[in-house]
Amino acid sequence: MPGTLFDGLKQYVGFTAATSAALARLHPIARPRFGAIVDDFYEAIEAHPEARVAITGGPAQIARLKQTLTAWLDRLLLGPHDEDYYALRARIGRVHVRIDLPQAFMFTAMNRIRLRLMEVIGAHRPPDADLLLHAVNQILDLELAIMLETYREDLTAKQRGAERLATIGHFAASIGHELRNPLAVMESSLFLLRQHLGPDTAARAEVAKHLDRLSGEIVRANKTIHDLLDLARNRPPQRTATRLRPLVDSAEAASLLPPGIRVKAAAVPPELTIDVDADQFRQVLINLFTNATHAMSGRGTIQVMADMPTPHAIRIHVQDDGPGIGAEARQHLFEALFTTKAKGTGLGLALCRRILEAHGGTIELAPGDRGATFLLTVPREPRPDDAAA
Ligand code: HEM
Repeated sequence: MPGTLFDGLKQYVGFTAATSAALARLHPIARPRFGAIVDDFYEAIEAHPEARVAITGGPAQIARLKQTLTAWLDRLLLGPHDEDYYALRARIGRVHVRIDLPQAFMFTAMNRIRLRLMEVIGAHRPPDADLLLHAVNQILDLELAIMLETYREDLTAKQRGAERLATIGHFAASIGHELRNPLAVMESSLFLLRQHLGPDTAARAEVAKHLDRLSGEIVRANKTIHDLLDLARNRPPQRTATRLRPLVDSAEAASLLPPGIRVKAAAVPPELTIDVDADQFRQVLINLFTNATHAMSGRGTIQVMADMPTPHAIRIHVQDDGPGIGAEARQHLFEALFTTKAKGTGLGLALCRRILEAHGGTIELAPGDRGATFLLTVPREPRPDDAAA
């Protein structure tokens, strides 16, 4: 059986059981210095203007991160350096990718830890100092390789997504235009048919039912074409300060939701404005409301809430009380052509992501297994009354 990526990396740097044993011997020597190493690590971050912006939670977050870094150092030296170790470290790497931490900081930060551990060995002068120094370099090279791998994974996923969207865009434009005209003809024929039948339609329930079904399917087909053309167009957003509450209301109206679905936006302050392209953002909300409606099989509540995780961003929560989204689907949710619905095109969430990213924002699925909560973050322009607040 071919080895894992971690096996390959270990082999490359010559990491063996003897390396793990050497690191374990270093642990009791280095442990008393962990406090100083961790303090030094965060002092360097706080002293650097670009690194400092990653810390959005102030001293409380630093205190928490110091604890996690101490646990990180414990596991670094004590191991076991197995596949679980790789999975854990990759997860930590993804946390940094998620907060958009520039990759370059990984080199500088890792090197800081490397130098501090080397100083500990130098000061203590154990008889096997050379072996311990070598082991520290090997394990930190592995750590760096894992961190960078998570950045590469993210880049590859984004590139794949962009290529897919571009290909779909080309097809979309031609197919969309081809289908638009016949659908418009069907729509007007349906209108004329209803007029011809006049009051008879209401009297003949079977006929009325089929006409309604036809018109429902035409709306659905138009919506797909609309999504396709939007995708092909890729128009840059025209941002203006837009009140969120009315935007939610208009998205609700345009989504043509069934009567069993309620959209609750009472928690959104009526005066709250966001800097977005109103048409594009309405489209995002419509797509999310439509998905939530399918997930809840046409019956349930969609909650819209808003908060400000930082003074420079507004986060909008769109939450349903459906069955939630499984682990497998979560990984591909925002990729074009991925869908869990029998009738879905797999474009809705890809379009949402593209719109949010064009606004300099993000869309993600919040962790948790009750319902599905999408978190939309949009950058916020400073307001004149901010200073007074
Ligand atoms: C060698 C490099 C680094 C290591 C070993 C490291 C380690 C960690 C660990 C263990 C966590 C907790 C992850 C979790 O379980 O949720 C974390 C999160 C975090 N790290 Fe790092 N880190 C490194 C570099 C940096 C740098 C350079 C910065 C800032 C400039 C930074 C900022 C953060 C922030 C802001 C979080 C919290 C993210 C969140 O939960 O929203 N890290 N890091």
